[in-house]
Amino acid sequence: MTPDLFAAGPGPAERAAELRAQLHHHAHRYYTLDEPEIPDAEYDRLFQELQAIEAAHPELLTSDSPTQRVGGRVLDELVAVRHRLPMLSINTETDTEPSGARNFDTRVRRALGLTEVDPPVEYVAELKFDGLAMSLRYEDGLLVLAATRGDGEVGEDVTNNVRTIRNIPLRLPADAPPVLEVRGEVYMRRADFEALNDKQRAKIAAGAKGEKTFVNPRNAAAGAVRQHDSSIAAQRPLSFFAYGLGEITPPEQGGPAFETHYDMLMQLKASGFPVAEQTALCTGADALVAFHQRIGGSRDQLPYDIDGVVYKVNALALQRRLGFVTREPRWAVAHKYPAQEQLTTVLAIDVQVGRTGKLTPVAKLAPVFVGGVTVTNATLHNEDEARRKDVRVGDTVIVRRAGDVIPEVVSVVLPSVRAEPVEALSSDHPELVEGQAQPERGPVFTLPRQCPVCGSDAVREEGEVDYRCSGGLFCGAQRKQALLHFAQRRAVEIEGLGDKLVEQLVDSGLIKTLPDLYKLGFTTLAGLERMAEKSAKNIVDALEKSKRTTLPRFLFGLGIRHVGEATAKELARHFGQLDRIMDASVEALSEVNDVGPVVAQSIRTFFDQPHNREVVEQLRACGVTWEEGEPAERAPQPLAGKTFVLTGTFPTLKREDAKAMLEAAGAKVAGSVSKKTDYVVAGTEAGSKLDKAIELGVTVLDEAGMLALLPT
Ligand code: IVH
Repeated sequence: MTPDLFAAGPGPAERAAELRAQLHHHAHRYYTLDEPEIPDAEYDRLFQELQAIEAAHPELLTSDSPTQRVGGRVLDELVAVRHRLPMLSINTETDTEPSGARNFDTRVRRALGLTEVDPPVEYVAELKFDGLAMSLRYEDGLLVLAATRGDGEVGEDVTNNVRTIRNIPLRLPADAPPVLEVRGEVYMRRADFEALNDKQRAKIAAGAKGEKTFVNPRNAAAGAVRQHDSSIAAQRPLSFFAYGLGEITPPEQGGPAFETHYDMLMQLKASGFPVAEQTALCTGADALVAFHQRIGGSRDQLPYDIDGVVYKVNALALQRRLGFVTREPRWAVAHKYPAQEQLTTVLAIDVQVGRTGKLTPVAKLAPVFVGGVTVTNATLHNEDEARRKDVRVGDTVIVRRAGDVIPEVVSVVLPSVRAEPVEALSSDHPELVEGQAQPERGPVFTLPRQCPVCGSDAVREEGEVDYRCSGGLFCGAQRKQALLHFAQRRAVEIEGLGDKLVEQLVDSGLIKTLPDLYKLGFTTLAGLERMAEKSAKNIVDALEKSKRTTLPRFLFGLGIRHVGEATAKELARHFGQLDRIMDASVEALSEVNDVGPVVAQSIRTFFDQPHNREVVEQLRACGVTWEEGEPAERAPQPLAGKTFVLTGTFPTLKREDAKAMLEAAGAKVAGSVSKKTDYVVAGTEAGSKLDKAIELGVTVLDEAGMLALLPT
């Protein structure tokens, strides 16, 4: 007997089949039903196991294997394919009012010869997804062809790319008919689109050539589907919804028999195709109107773009009676919503300063109705983005407002090019051929280097896309934020000065900069709306109390970018006095524990703004005080260069305190144990980190052992 016969478990062929089945099941739970049963890591493990088997046994690889979703084929061109049944288009009701639905019902009833006494017609109401139409052909349950609509008769074979779409089944359940063509829409979810564009922007920023951002999810989806390299398509996250059928084995030959469109959709759903959950049966015109309104109201919350809804007569027998006019069925109609993209003109480009000082270029637009609201402003995000899109005053632009996202300028539409090549002249005057006769355009946009609100320097830190105003204490745009930050418990603590009161004080003009706080008297406060005398008194007391503070609290309260509580403490300890900090050079600041070049520069820039210095002086003049000390000797750093990992619970110290003590002595505290770790400090219930330390032979200490290493 060979030992093989004793081997537990299946052979590679059985195991591969089992893994494929499991992966199909879990992919369906995850991508179609959104109800995963296993963690992602477990899915990945199964996936990798299958990949390994297929690599070792290429003969076991099947076209429906989930591993084939990652793409890899590169084509010279897409191949044309003739649809067995034409892909129809749909009549569009451009009237976005409820009457659009009633008009359709009236036409259907008239065509069917129904009168008022006849019962209402039953419809299926669906979403009109804003993507591109796709026909998926399955033979004996296997996906064999995915084709674009093309002109309705002839489309393009995009099977390799469509295989990468996770919620399209590659194999159908065993009871699938021999031939089944499913029709539906390939689209990109908004979040996937935003993430893709973020990725593209990062590539462009890193200097990648030939990369671009996408205008909208539909264009991104269309581009991905028509990719010649399917591994690129695999990186563009697409999704699919089924909404109809093409060719299918007829009932006489063993195919399924449906009586209604709705039953057909439910059968597709049961076979693993994604069908939108909003799909609803509607009886009569009123129900269609209600559907149009309900979906219109929640359109912004959908995770993908729709441009309308579609109504279809439910009974297939009635569909057959209604037939077609030219290429459009009389039994279906698309009922639109207001478009999410429109053309308009840029009147100006303003710069807005956010609560945190971020400068954002905003295009002021000729008012335009888009995505259901009138839009007059659209963000250009940042200077790089505005320049890349090359938006200028006077340009005609496409504005997009979809979902809850703020309206944005998608692109500039340049006036059509007037370039008539004059044969005789072209060799002597190539500019007449190539030159695009363009009207004068406004100047290229640049962000101001001064804050448009307060005039302080606007600075852009290395590696960041945004410019920020550095006049945090003085800037009108940042007033509320600055006050709340200063008043918080961890800063100077002004009890009772919360969101609402700050709002009231700033909006009424009582407070322009921080020192104005200390000029508020009882009478002014008590005179505010909704302010009881008792509360006014409490605030006066709180203000008085807040004047006696400490240097770290005051420093932190100034709201200098990158200066948190810990850094404020280090600065105070190192310099002892505020004036020394205000006058320290970047190099001197960089000497402080935990202060790197970016933080040092940020502190320097802050105190370079005359307005910020003035505010500090005024606060002192109002009586805000703290004890100043002598600059500290640099704490001894006996543990410089040593890396510690802390694990478990210590008898006396909290984890953060132990960490702070070690860091103050120059050590680095890391999160995981590696060969580079010098010491692991283990308390009770230390787990895998301790095991790892022992495995790697790292020195293990207890709390007392650690304390012994610290300077006294
Ligand atoms: S039915 C027989 N249903 O809209 C009618 N089309 O021309 C065939 N679309 O590009 C189309 N959502 O891709 C139908 N629920 C839906 C749809 C839908 C989007 C697209 C379709 C085509 C256009 C209609």
